[in-house]
Amino acid sequence: MMSCKLLPCPHGPITDTLHLRRAGSIDELEDVLDLHASAFGPRGAILRTRMQANLCARPGSRPDDVFYVRDIESGLVASSVSLIRQQWSYEGIPIPVGEVGIVSTREAYRNRGLVRHQFAAFARLALQQGCVMSVIAGIPYFYRQFGYDFILPLGGGINLPAAAVPEAPEGQAPRYTLRQATPADMPMLLGFYSAMVEGQCVGSVMTPEIWCYQDGVAEDSPERLITYVIERDGDGVGYVRAMANEDSNGYVITSAYAPTRDMCLEVLRYARRIALEQRCDPKIGLGVAMDTPLAQVAEALGGERRRAYAWQVRILDPIRFLYLIGPALERRLAASSWAGLTRDWSINLYTTRLLMRFRDGKLMQVTTSPRDTQHDLSCPAEAMPAIWLGYRSVGEVLDWYADAACRNTESRQLADVLFPKRPSWIQWLF
Ligand SMILES: CC(C)(COP(=O)(O)OP(=O)(O)OC[C@H]1O[C@@H](n2cnc3c(N)ncnc32)[C@H](O)[C@@H]1OP(=O)(O)O)[C@@H](O)C(=O)NCCC(=O)NCCS
Repeated sequence: MMSCKLLPCPHGPITDTLHLRRAGSIDELEDVLDLHASAFGPRGAILRTRMQANLCARPGSRPDDVFYVRDIESGLVASSVSLIRQQWSYEGIPIPVGEVGIVSTREAYRNRGLVRHQFAAFARLALQQGCVMSVIAGIPYFYRQFGYDFILPLGGGINLPAAAVPEAPEGQAPRYTLRQATPADMPMLLGFYSAMVEGQCVGSVMTPEIWCYQDGVAEDSPERLITYVIERDGDGVGYVRAMANEDSNGYVITSAYAPTRDMCLEVLRYARRIALEQRCDPKIGLGVAMDTPLAQVAEALGGERRRAYAWQVRILDPIRFLYLIGPALERRLAASSWAGLTRDWSINLYTTRLLMRFRDGKLMQVTTSPRDTQHDLSCPAEAMPAIWLGYRSVGEVLDWYADAACRNTESRQLADVLFPKRPSWIQWLF
């Protein structure tokens, strides 16, 4: 059994024999991986390598971001939850995000509140580390009880039979060529990535470390990606990234910047060749945002939409979150008939109440508002992030929740201006 360092934790022992800890070294994570491998049933052993990469090798991963509960009698790790620090962007504004990493409890220890206990510790650590928002790509329903709700799109995309992609017209030399990217292409690739997510409300922030990590995982790993630069006359004009290995969706393109129809067709022809020659099921899977030209071209060729799942999101610090996205709110006001707004605008989340103080179109302050305020927008706390993150329009939330309402017409108009429904696209990094 590995030695364990008991790091300070406000909870202390959960029971006499079950103790909450934070890993002190990579070695301690071996016991946590044993737990996950056992808790995920028959898939556990297969997933172990992926989970090891997730906990130990992913850029930014740190052993002390891993919480676990050890049974000091049996020596077994009974349950674990981990924090993965990330940065997402809200219309270009960096938002510190605490993703919940792998969660599991050994069968014999389930339904004793061990995950509940670790989520409380997780939220404290994430807040301490400056994360204003926490997200998880997790199992259905379970995380609602910890304040999470399905808020941002995850997965989805399009499946297209490879044979549906037309050949290039006879005798016409391709205008675009694809070549595998090298590390020297990184600045150009990051520029294309930024252009690709520019129209999105929420997007994941790409760094060279993450990009290289994704392209550099083990040759046979299902997560390994491969990046190509799209060139015209020898100049890079776009990129495409795909899963390097076999996948149940055929040849899977995970992201691309291909702003013209001709480029999209060339990318799809390339994908067609690989799908036909190297995949068991000759189809092309597109995991790109639905409002990109590549998705639109694929759909026009007969591609079928896959149903998206969703990120489960909890805003950990609503005041700091609203303050951080202030520049985006100010831009929205400036582009509306409310330009130069001087007014307080208040939100009643029932569990807490917030006040946004706008002066001359600038968000000067976000604070709590007194209980007796007549609030501009009232909305249950769990539904509000869907509005803040542009996942649902104010009208959709008001239609769905009888306890969501705007105070008057002016309050409603401002709500629509400040928080319009917008597309988002976040790439999941396992
Ligand atoms: C899901 C899982 C992590 C729950 O662990 P746990 O230690 O039993 O969770 P907790 O006891 O802290 O659960 C808190 C509450 O959720 C309830 N709960 C447990 N499993 C649940 C489930 N699958 N769905 C809904 N509620 C569940 C518990 O009864 C408990 O309710 P209570 O506090 O009112 O008694 C565990 O069943 C597991 O490891 N499953 C296999 C791996 C997995 O799917 N991991 C999640 C990947 S995202």
